Amino acid sequence: MEVKHAMEGELKLLIIENDFAKCALFPEHGAHVAEFAPTGKENILWLSESSCFEGDKPIRGGIPICWPWFGAHPADSDKPSHGFARIAKWTLDEIEELDSGDTSVVMSLSGSPASLELWPHQFKLTSRVVIGETLTLELTTHNTGDEPFEITEALHTYFNVADVTKISIAGLEKKNYIDTIDDNKTKTQNGPVTFNSEVDRVYCDTQAECVISDPNMNREIRVSKKGSASTVVWNPWIAKSARMADFGDEEYKGMVCVETTNALNDARTVAPGASHSISAKIALST
Ligand code: BG6
Repeated sequence: MEVKHAMEGELKLLIIENDFAKCALFPEHGAHVAEFAPTGKENILWLSESSCFEGDKPIRGGIPICWPWFGAHPADSDKPSHGFARIAKWTLDEIEELDSGDTSVVMSLSGSPASLELWPHQFKLTSRVVIGETLTLELTTHNTGDEPFEITEALHTYFNVADVTKISIAGLEKKNYIDTIDDNKTKTQNGPVTFNSEVDRVYCDTQAECVISDPNMNREIRVSKKGSASTVVWNPWIAKSARMADFGDEEYKGMVCVETTNALNDARTVAPGASHSISAKIALST
C-alpha cells in the first residue's frame, strides 16, 4: 500500500494505492471520497471540473455525505442543503492495511458547539471506507446523547458515464418513486431508468442493487447497499446545471447520481446509546 498526501485548493487530499485500486479522499473535509479507480481501469466516480475545494463549501462530485438531513432542512431553508457533515471538519482516525490487501480508512465527526447550533443533538459519526477491488463506504451514526433523534441521510454518489442518454439503470423496476420535479407525485418505474431530461427521484421501499449499464464505456457499475430502503437517482440536465455555479454547463452528460439513502419516509430514529449504519458497495462487473 502506498499513501500520499497532497493539497487540492484549501483541502488536504489523501491518495491511497494498493494492489487493487487507487482512491483519493478528503478525510478532514466531509470524509469525502473523490476518486476510485480499480487498477488499470478508469475512475468510476465523477468529479466536476468546476468544483470548489474550500473549507466551507461542498465538493461537487465523488461521494458527499449528506447528514443529518437529506436535501433542504425540513423547517429552515437557511440551514445547509444536505446537512452539515459534508462541510464539517472530520478527524482521520486510522489507515489500516487488511489481511486481504484492502485498505481501510476510518474518519469521524462528533458534536460541537457549531453543530449544536444547526442540530441540537450529541452524536458521533464514523465513516469507514474500504478500498479494494470494490469500494465500500459504511457510515455509522451513534447517538451519544440522552434523547432519541431522527436522521435522513445519503451517500450521494456521483458516477462517471460516457453519455447519460445512452445508459440505463436496472434494479428499480416496478418501484414507486416520488418525482420531486413533478409536484412530488408518486409514480411507478416502468423498466430500467433512462435519461432524456432532468431526473430527480426518491425511489421508495427498495433495498435492491442498482446496475448502471454504460455501453459506450463498455462497463457495468453495481451499487449494492445495507441499512437503506430508499434510493435517489439524479441528473440535473441543462437548466439546473446552468444554475449551479460549481457545475459545468455541459457536464450533466457525463454523470449520474445513484444515491444510497435514508430519505423521506425511510428516515431512521436512533435511540440514546444506539447506532444506525448505512453502507454502499460499488463494484465494476466488466
Ligand atoms: C440530490 C437532490 O440528491 O442532490 C437534488 O435530489 C439536488 O435535488 C442534488 O439538486 C444536489 O444538491 P446540492 O445541495 O449538492 O446542490
